Amino acid sequence: MMDRDEVVCNCMGVTAGEIIDAINSGAGTIEEIQEATGAGTVCGGCISDIEELLKNRE
Ligand code: FES
Repeated sequence: MMDRDEVVCNCMGVTAGEIIDAINSGAGTIEEIQEATGAGTVCGGCISDIEELLKNRE
């Protein structure tokens, strides 16, 4: 599991914790995480890491 303070999306400065919170608040797809946090909306380089967080959600 990634550290919550780890920045997953450098473009938008979004941490793993913010993404996990979005998932726990109901975001179930990449698109919903993008809408909720802004992560993954610029270069897309962090999408695979976001997918990893989604896949590992409880
Ligand atoms: S690192 Fe997330 S959009 Fe570029």
